[in-house]
Amino acid sequence: MAGRIPPEFIDDLLARTDIVDLIGTRIQLRKAGKDFQARCPFHDEKTPSFTVSPDKQFYHCFGCGAHGTAIGFLMEYDHLAFREAVDELARHAGLEVPSDGEVVRTGPDHGPLFELMRQAADFYRQQLREPAQAARAVEYLKERGFTGEMAARFEIGFAPARGDPLLNRFGTSAATIGRLLDCGLIAEQDGRRYDRFRDRVMFPIRDRRGRIIGFGGRILGDGKPKYLNSPETPIFHKGRELYGLFEAGQANRKLASLVVVEGYLDVIALAQFGITNAVATLGTATTLEHLHQLLRSVPDLVFCFDGDRAGRDAAWKALETALPLATGHQSMRFLFLPDGEDPDTLVRKEGAEGFSARLAKARSLSDFLFEHLSDQVDMTSLDGRARIAHLAKPLIERLPQGLYRDLVLKRVADLTGLASQPPARQVRAKRRGGAPGRPMRLSLVAQSIALLLDHPRLVSELESVEDDWRRLPNPGIDILARLLDSLRESPDMTKAMLLERWREHPHFSYLRRLSVDPFLRDVSAEGAPAELAGALSRLSAEAREMEWRRPLNKRSTTEWTEEDRALLAERDAESSRTRRDDAL
Ligand code: UTP
Ligand code: MN
Repeated sequence: MAGRIPPEFIDDLLARTDIVDLIGTRIQLRKAGKDFQARCPFHDEKTPSFTVSPDKQFYHCFGCGAHGTAIGFLMEYDHLAFREAVDELARHAGLEVPSDGEVVRTGPDHGPLFELMRQAADFYRQQLREPAQAARAVEYLKERGFTGEMAARFEIGFAPARGDPLLNRFGTSAATIGRLLDCGLIAEQDGRRYDRFRDRVMFPIRDRRGRIIGFGGRILGDGKPKYLNSPETPIFHKGRELYGLFEAGQANRKLASLVVVEGYLDVIALAQFGITNAVATLGTATTLEHLHQLLRSVPDLVFCFDGDRAGRDAAWKALETALPLATGHQSMRFLFLPDGEDPDTLVRKEGAEGFSARLAKARSLSDFLFEHLSDQVDMTSLDGRARIAHLAKPLIERLPQGLYRDLVLKRVADLTGLASQPPARQVRAKRRGGAPGRPMRLSLVAQSIALLLDHPRLVSELESVEDDWRRLPNPGIDILARLLDSLRESPDMTKAMLLERWREHPHFSYLRRLSVDPFLRDVSAEGAPAELAGALSRLSAEAREMEWRRPLNKRSTTEWTEEDRALLAERDAESSRTRRDDAL
C-alpha cells in the first residue's frame, strides 16, 4: 500500500474529472435543466430520481439516497477500493498518483519478483517436457484426463524430485537468493536453503494482468500435504487472488458470469469441457476482497460447493460475506453438487451440458438464505415462523438499503405472516431520533455545515458575517470552522472536492449525509446565502449570550474568579441601566 495521497492531488484529480462523463459512460444520462438525470443504478425504479450535478460534481438519488463524488461513484458502482478508484480516475486524467509528495505509484518496485516468478514458471514448464524427469507427472495428468492443450493454456509445469534446481540455477548472488526467498520459491531452515517445491505438478497462479504471482503444487497421487502453495509474499495474497480469473478473461471477450469453484483442477477440467469462466479461491474461504474483485468483473456469480456439511458451511460463510454487496443488480447464486462430487468429476460424468444445466438451476442468494434458516426451525408452527423473522433480521440488516432489501423483508413478512415495517422509514426514524413522519430539525450548526457543503461558493458572500460562533462549544463547530477556513483558502472548490477532503475523518459519513439532507431541498440556490448568513449570526448571538451568562452559571463553583466577578458587576449595572431605559 502506498502512502497517503496528498489532498491537493485529490483536488486536482477532481478538477480534471467530469462526473457527468464518468457516469455517462456507465449509464444513460438525460439533461434536465442544469443537471443530468437517469434511472438510479443503485435501486430499481421506473421514473428517474438519480441526479448528477456538473456544478457540484456530485450525484444524488432522491429515491434511495445514494450519493457521492466521482471517487465515491467508482467505489460503489465499479466496486473499487478508494485507492483503486483514485488510480482509475488518475489514469483517465493522465495523472500519476503521488504518495505524500513523492512520485511513487505503488510503493517498492516488485518488477524483479514478477520477472523471477515468470522465469520459474518457464523452468517448471520445461521440466514437464523432460521425459527423464517428468514421465510420472505426465502420466498422472493423463490418467486424470487432462489434455496437453490445457497444460499449455494453464502453463502447467513440474518441479523435479531431486536437488535444488531453482536455487542452483537462479540463486547466483546474494541478491538473487534474497529474491528467491522473497518469492517463496526457496525456503530456509537452520541456515540451509532448499527448493520449496519438489516432485509436484505446478500450477502457476496469475493476477488479473497475467503476471505470475504464486504457485500451487500438487503431489503425484495420494500423500500429504496434497497441495503446497506459495506463502504470502509481497506480490501474492491468497485472500485477494482468484485462480483462473486471467485465463477466463483470455478465453472470453466479454465475461457475463463467473463460476467460483474450490480447486485448481476444477477450473482446468471445466475449461477443458468448454466452461471457460470458472475461477477458484486458493484454499481459503471467499473473502470480501474476492467478491469485490469478482463483481467488478461480471454481473452474475455462481458459487459452487460440495453438497456435504463442510460445503454447506462454506457456502453459508460465503453468503454472509456477500450480504453487504447484495444489491440485486448483480446476481449471486449458489450451486450444491451431489455428495462426493466436485466440478472436475461431475463435468467428466455429465459433460458441459449437464454441468451447465446445474449452473442454470443454481439457487438465488435469498432462496439459499431462507432455505438455510428454514432448516433450523419448525416451519409448521407459528413460533417457528416467528423465529425465522428473528434469525433473518441481523442478516437483512447487512444488506444494503434499496429495493432488494425491501423484497427480502417482504419475503420474511410473507413467510411468517408478520407485517414488516418499510426499512427506509425505520432508518430515517432512527436517524432522526424521533417518530416517523415527525423529522427532527437539524441544529443550526448542522444546517450551516449542510449549506456550506452543498453550496461551497457561499463562502465568498460571508465576508461581513460575525465570527463569534467560533467560540461556541457545540458539537460540530470545529468542523464548520475547518470547512469555512479551507474554503476561504480555496474558494473554487466544488462540493466533491470539499467532501473528499474529509474522507479519512471519523465524521466523513455524517458529513456526506448532511450534504444531501432533506433540509437542503427547501433552500433554493438564491436563498442559500441568506440562510447561511442567518444561521451563523444566530449562532454568533448564541455565543455572545452564553458568554454573557457564563459568570452567573459559575457563581456557585470554585472556578469563580475575580475577573468574573468584575465582569458580572459590570453586566448587572448595564442591564439595570437598559431596564431603566426600557421603562422610560
Ligand atoms: P481439494 O481437496 O478439493 O482438491 O482442494 P482438488 O482441487 O479437487 O484437487 P484434486 O482433484 O484432489 O487433485 C481444493 C483446493 O484447496 C486447496 C487447493 O487450492 C485446492 O485446489 N488445497 C487443498 C490446499 O491448498 N492444500 C491442500 O492440501 C488441499
Ligand atoms: Mn478434485
